[in-house]
Amino acid sequence: MADERPLLMIVEHDVGLQKQMRWCLDRYELVFAPDRESAITKLRRYEPAVVLLDIDLPSAAHGSNAGFATFGDIVAFAPATRVVVLADPDDRSRALRAVAMGAHDVVARPFVAATLDTILQRAFALADLEREAHELEARRIAPVPLEGLLTRDPRMLDICRQIERFATVDVPVLLNGESGTGKETLARALHRLSSRRHAGFVAIDCAAFPEALSRVGPFADASDASGGAPPTPSASDDAAPWGTLFLDDVGELPPPLQARLARHLDRDAGGHARRRDGARTDVRVVCATRRDLRELVAQGRFRADLLDRLGETVVALPPLRERHGDAALLAHALARRTAERHRRRCPTLAEDAVDAIARHRWPGNVRQLSACVERAVVVTERATIHARDLRLAPGDDEAVLPNLRQARDEAERRAVLAVMARVDGNVARAASLLGISRPTLYGLLSRFGLR
Ligand SMILES: Nc1ncnc2c1ncn2[C@@H]1O[C@H](COP(=O)(O)OP(=O)(O)O)[C@@H](O)[C@H]1O
Ligand SMILES: [Mg+2]
Repeated sequence: MADERPLLMIVEHDVGLQKQMRWCLDRYELVFAPDRESAITKLRRYEPAVVLLDIDLPSAAHGSNAGFATFGDIVAFAPATRVVVLADPDDRSRALRAVAMGAHDVVARPFVAATLDTILQRAFALADLEREAHELEARRIAPVPLEGLLTRDPRMLDICRQIERFATVDVPVLLNGESGTGKETLARALHRLSSRRHAGFVAIDCAAFPEALSRVGPFADASDASGGAPPTPSASDDAAPWGTLFLDDVGELPPPLQARLARHLDRDAGGHARRRDGARTDVRVVCATRRDLRELVAQGRFRADLLDRLGETVVALPPLRERHGDAALLAHALARRTAERHRRRCPTLAEDAVDAIARHRWPGNVRQLSACVERAVVVTERATIHARDLRLAPGDDEAVLPNLRQARDEAERRAVLAVMARVDGNVARAASLLGISRPTLYGLLSRFGLR
């Protein structure tokens, strides 16, 4: 059974005092450290809330005061720890110095058991209160992503906060990131958070159907002869609220449409964009691109004035491989969602599958991961999904990130394969060439699935 008593670490070299403490401080689980080194090791291992420190710790060869040095270490490594100092009552300057360093209290040595106990209890009670306050605070500011998004990556969480801020101001937003990083997902989240959420979200694929732009109410031009539909009634109505216009792959927008967009995004004195016929366009434009638009401007393929207007606020989405821990987090969630959709029991992702997912480069980012997991869940009928069920393209592995065990496994696998080929499968010869026993080799062969 786990010890339920509060853990008290005591830095005390004197064996006699240790014995006395053991006897009178039995309400605590005691961890003793007789010197500075073990104090640091144990501080890290046990993370005690309270430390009782004998300030007259004998000093090492160099002569600097070991008691104060240990105190300094505790303050540096675990500043939240409450330190109760034991000191010689005749040496007031030491006691004062300990208080100046932030000691919770100073107790005279030899100590009165009841006094020491009262002081320690108060220290623990305050440490508890502090920890609770901390936890409450942590929960209050717990990072949550936006609706429809899963992430624990600090950069992505920052982006979520940024999107929340942009939602309340009517500025154009440019989302920049590789394919499948969640640009459209973020654009929709932005729309849902904005005051335009009750109006429409219109997405236009500028690479495939750029002409669609001339059919969107606020941008439709009465004088337009290009066959666009006539403006919708709401377009000529100043009061009609327009929603969000999402221009996907905006870098591919043909030059004439770029010109039109730039013109329409010109702000009037009141901060509202106006159509050429004077009607307010009043639509929020959110653009997405995989390209570096500045480069396209330099190549003369994108209008600089348009980039100026669209790029006032740029959000750069990191690729999935740079989001710490997100691939595995998403894989579990996607497996669950797919299983639910197919009314199946959710299979477990085996450790090797999670490893493989975490190591993969995912050039197609979340979209590719989603398709991969979905396929594996649908196709695999077993209760566990292994790495091989994922059918990941080799070579798309993140070479920089294997941990030591993976690196060792890979090196061993290669050595075993090479030697087995050389001895034509003779296990005894292979084992002696590899310098290992036959049972060890058998173990390796079955671990790598080479038998
Ligand atoms: N952080 C995320 N959490 C959950 N699903 C995501 C996330 N990012 C993207 N997706 C999903 O991945 C797919 C691709 O996202 P999308 O927003 O279309 O990417 P992009 O527009 O950058 O190509 C969508 O199905 C989307 O729901
Ligand atoms: Mg997209």
